[in-house]
Amino acid sequence: MSAAPDPVPVAVLGAGAIGGVVARALHAGEVPGARLVGVVHADPEDPPGLPVLGADEAIERAELVVECAGQRALAVLGPKVVARGRDLLVASVGALTDPGLWDSLDGGPGRLLLCTGAVGGLDLLRAAAAMGPLEHVHIETTKRASSLVQDWMGEDEAAELRTTEQRRELMNGPARKVASSFPKSANVAASVALAAGDWDVVSAAVVADPEAGLTSHVITARGAAGEYRFEIRNHPSELTPTTSGVVPHAVLRAVAGRTGATGVFV
Ligand SMILES: NC(=O)c1ccc[n+]([C@@H]2O[C@H](COP(=O)([O-])OP(=O)(O)OC[C@H]3O[C@@H](n4cnc5c(N)ncnc54)[C@H](O)[C@@H]3O)[C@@H](O)[C@H]2O)c1
Repeated sequence: MSAAPDPVPVAVLGAGAIGGVVARALHAGEVPGARLVGVVHADPEDPPGLPVLGADEAIERAELVVECAGQRALAVLGPKVVARGRDLLVASVGALTDPGLWDSLDGGPGRLLLCTGAVGGLDLLRAAAAMGPLEHVHIETTKRASSLVQDWMGEDEAAELRTTEQRRELMNGPARKVASSFPKSANVAASVALAAGDWDVVSAAVVADPEAGLTSHVITARGAAGEYRFEIRNHPSELTPTTSGVVPHAVLRAVAGRTGATGVFV
């Protein structure tokens, strides 16, 4: 009988609502075939009980680097990861609206891997787009209004969102614009566009709802392969309302797929 292969060394960028959960599960050995080498973060205090590394050392020691640190951090660190030949699993998919960043991450030698994150149905959309062009794809995201405040909003709009009692559409337009305008909340618009394989065919809307207990994403698509409608309703993370609680588990599932688990959907 041959010996089991050594576990894949994994580094996690970000130790927040997503990265903290991912790193703890990896550190506890919950993903077969993977072991945590360390987390890289920018918080005032180190996360308790986890090994912390600088970015350069993490990239050096890992074979797989899992980004859970946000769009800006991905733009800075991601190109170094793939240039060093490490595989990069991305949670902040919305950063890929920038064609220059896409080119620098997709050029290897490390592989660029995208996490499905808060949504599902991307596998089927990809297959449908491969069969024939999609004519129309739309994603509508509805979140708790107070969690949708952005830096680019004026003070009045931000204050209104924090206290509003009215449901209101904040933006409706090309997926590229929506994903970059809501960097913590509309990564999914970019995920849908990348699955559809055509940014221009995908539109997105963000709706603020003061009553929204769950975060919802409704994806509709039509094309040669058929007509699709996926509705996803996620509980927000207990750690932050901008992230859904399921996202770190989607990241862990993706790590397991990369590190040799069998019987998994790919
Ligand atoms: N694909 C999806 O469905 C989906 C869903 C939710 C969030 N996201 C993305 O995941 C990101 C992380 O979400 P979160 O809720 O865990 O955020 P968070 O704010 O709770 O945590 C972010 C972590 O990243 C670290 N960080 C920030 N800049 C860094 C840098 N330059 N180098 C190293 N570490 C850095 C912070 O210190 C913190 O530990 C979001 O910014 C968002 O873009 C994706």
